[in-house]
Amino acid sequence: MKYGDYVRRYQRKTGRSRRLFSRSVKVFPGGISHNIRYFEPYPFFVNAAKGKHLHDVDGNRYTDYWMGHWAMILGHSPAPVASALAGQVRKGTLYGVVNDASVELAEMIQKLMPAAEMMRFSSTGSEATMYAVRLARAKTGRRVIAKAIGGWHGFNTTLMQTVNYPFEAEEGPGLVQDEGQYVESIPFNDLEASLKVLDTIKDDLACVIIEPVLGGAGCIPPAEGYLQGLQEFAKKNGALFILDEIVTGFRLSLHGAAHLYGLEPDLFTLGKICGGGMPIGVVCGNKEVMSLADPVSMPDKQARCAIGGGTFSANPATMAAGLATLDYLKKNERQVYGKVDRLGEMARKGLSRIFAESSVPCAVTGTKSAFMTHFIEQGAEVANATDVATSDRVKLAKYHMALMAEHGIFFLPTKMGAMSYAHDEGDVRKLLSATEAIAGSGLFKKAP
Ligand SMILES: Cc1ncc(COP(=O)(O)O)c(C=O)c1O
Repeated sequence: MKYGDYVRRYQRKTGRSRRLFSRSVKVFPGGISHNIRYFEPYPFFVNAAKGKHLHDVDGNRYTDYWMGHWAMILGHSPAPVASALAGQVRKGTLYGVVNDASVELAEMIQKLMPAAEMMRFSSTGSEATMYAVRLARAKTGRRVIAKAIGGWHGFNTTLMQTVNYPFEAEEGPGLVQDEGQYVESIPFNDLEASLKVLDTIKDDLACVIIEPVLGGAGCIPPAEGYLQGLQEFAKKNGALFILDEIVTGFRLSLHGAAHLYGLEPDLFTLGKICGGGMPIGVVCGNKEVMSLADPVSMPDKQARCAIGGGTFSANPATMAAGLATLDYLKKNERQVYGKVDRLGEMARKGLSRIFAESSVPCAVTGTKSAFMTHFIEQGAEVANATDVATSDRVKLAKYHMALMAEHGIFFLPTKMGAMSYAHDEGDVRKLLSATEAIAGSGLFKKAP
């Protein structure tokens, strides 16, 4: 089948979504509120999600591998979280003053990740990373932030540099160009080249902030020793090492990627999973650094680092959902991580085999429960964001559309997939047989 056939099939089954999208573009620029949620010809509109499924307004059901920006590790609306949330909703959703559930969630995070000596909750990951780099500048008195090329830390202004390909170009109007001079970018997984860049800015380097596994930029695990090398350089040169665990925290392991890779970040950020499907960000880490934000011991604003706002920060609804999620993960650690990791491995192996057998050059990347396909030139490698950006993204979007249109399987087009506890082996087998059928339909063949 050709791509156009799949698109027509999609359009035939999503008439209501098409009509909703025509209303949506009148109220939202591009018809969406998060840029990546748009895909061609228009996205389907969801009105319910349960377990591994998304249900759209036309009555279609999709097996979901996007899982709410990879946040829903227990599946959509898992019973223990839904009931904790419902109970909290009856008691109020926003007190606007301190609440007991926030202390409980913070203590739980600390128990699972002892490096979180102190923390602050925010409503998004973007705020958490903004706070993290501000704390680093406050602690060191330096200005420059180093991040990975293609690294995504949310839409905060400081870190909105080298996010989209071509990475060396400005990110667009609205960002003050001068601000970019205080952000330096390093090539992920190339330690020698990264250290060379860092060495040129070491005297003014406030921090290195990095995702342990490149997520938004392509689901790429770190090369052996890469993160350790960056950490060592930062610590040796009086800069902070900040791990952005917003995706990896509670996904790669209950204790995060730091635990998995033996890292000791000064600060780290969390989000997604620990909000249990509700909005959250967390900046946490070293007590001395976090204490720079203490308004009680430092009433003088000249001494204090200005972080810690947010009408909805530490709201009791998020706290209840987050606590129920972490509590479940803690009590069922072996079952949950054993399962999602096994499914991730099964998907990576199976997809690699199918593409190899179909003679479609494809790299399948990822680790644990996260996985992604990249259509590449024969023999090419995928080790960084440039490799991903220069792979055949159009082919990837077509593959994801074919899965959606014909097989009821959803990946946010061109994005990585993540397993949840609600998925099972049968789902992976379906994904593999659907992929086989799509490869067999000739979609991946080059046009003559
Ligand atoms: C690694 C990473 N950091 C930060 C963020 C931003 O989090 P949020 O979308 O909650 O602002 C994201 C979002 O996908 C992310 O993947």
